[in-house]
Amino acid sequence: WPKGIITLGPGESARQVVLKKIQELSDLDHRDPFMVADLGILASRHQVFCQALPRVSPFYAVKCNNSPWVLRVVAALGTSFDCASQVELKQVLSLGVAPSCIIYANPCKPVSYLQYAARHRVQLQTFDSEEELTKVAQHHPKARLVLRLWTNDRESTFPLSAKFGASLEVREHLLKSARDLGLAVVGTSFHVGSSCQNPQKFTQAIANCRRVFEMGRGVGHDMSLLDIGGGFPGEEGSKPEFEKMARVINAALAQHFPEETGVEVIAEPGRFYVASVCTAAVNIIAKKAVLEPGGYRKLLYYINEGHYGTFRVFLREPVPRTPIVVKEFCSEQPTFPCILYGPTCDAGDKLFMDEVQLPELDVGDWLIFPSMGAYTSVMSSTFNGFLPASIHYTMEPALRSLLETAP
Ligand SMILES: Cc1ncc(COP(=O)(O)O)c(C=O)c1O
Repeated sequence: WPKGIITLGPGESARQVVLKKIQELSDLDHRDPFMVADLGILASRHQVFCQALPRVSPFYAVKCNNSPWVLRVVAALGTSFDCASQVELKQVLSLGVAPSCIIYANPCKPVSYLQYAARHRVQLQTFDSEEELTKVAQHHPKARLVLRLWTNDRESTFPLSAKFGASLEVREHLLKSARDLGLAVVGTSFHVGSSCQNPQKFTQAIANCRRVFEMGRGVGHDMSLLDIGGGFPGEEGSKPEFEKMARVINAALAQHFPEETGVEVIAEPGRFYVASVCTAAVNIIAKKAVLEPGGYRKLLYYINEGHYGTFRVFLREPVPRTPIVVKEFCSEQPTFPCILYGPTCDAGDKLFMDEVQLPELDVGDWLIFPSMGAYTSVMSSTFNGFLPASIHYTMEPALRSLLETAP
């Protein structure tokens, strides 16, 4: 069993592990940033997903967090996978996952990746253009194709439709082209945008899929798979509530794809599974105080993780996150508007466009950011020579037993 995994003792939490590590590093005067991943959260998120959407099989979106431990746990839970590239396909196949449990859900694929998918019998894949069909006919003629549809995702925090999705006008043409090339279209997919703010977007998209199913059948395709993509909220308690979203989705499925149609429904959740898994602990490495016009005090904190590391996603979030300050004060402290800068020499390396309110802190103090599991370490670089935050994985004994006995 690898040494890197921390098995939690009775009653011990991942948050306690974070605090213990902070203490250890501070004692050594070696305050590098780190993350603690609570892998047990994956099991509870999986359970919540399956209970709320009983007809929908989750294909975990590897792009969101591709840590080998996350993938191993997700596979042991019996989840299938959504891969975006050859490296992701390879990673998932190397876990022993059957090719039939993978969807290659990137509508624009390099030829060599398509050939790789063909060689490894990964058949299910999305497309949204005529050019892709030409490539598929030549390099992966046995593919089971899923037509990705454009959706109105303007209300999502991270829209995707500017780049992907076939528009209404070209759908029938694409279905006919696929047929004429001898390719099998088996269903449709969409993505309402990551961190979708309006559950009704699923209703509209599912209704559109029903029309395209009819179109597909009309031109001779055996339409049997509906892929409702990702877009589910990341953290427990975030708005809109997942349970409410699930009710809306279940109602749309019942209306447009009732169970007796036998249509298989899958989804590609990413942040829903992993957002809450990781907690980041970072340190203040430098500080400046400036006086703003009007005489009020503003603090600039330079911390050892930033936009080029784990926190790239922050600049695209609408509201800055306020970190937890790891410091005991003997009395209530006033707070100041603060800018949080990352460690590199780029002035654009800041965590948020807006200020956050924090008390006066010192160099060497720690900040904790919970819910750092989605689109964080996967996006980090070593710009300016700053290494990515190390990750410590924790799990409870029950999960450990599940992994040890998993095939
Ligand atoms: C095709 C596809 N599927 C699934 C996802 C995962 O989305 P989310 O993390 O919102 O669940 C993404 C995210 O970009 C995606 O592009």
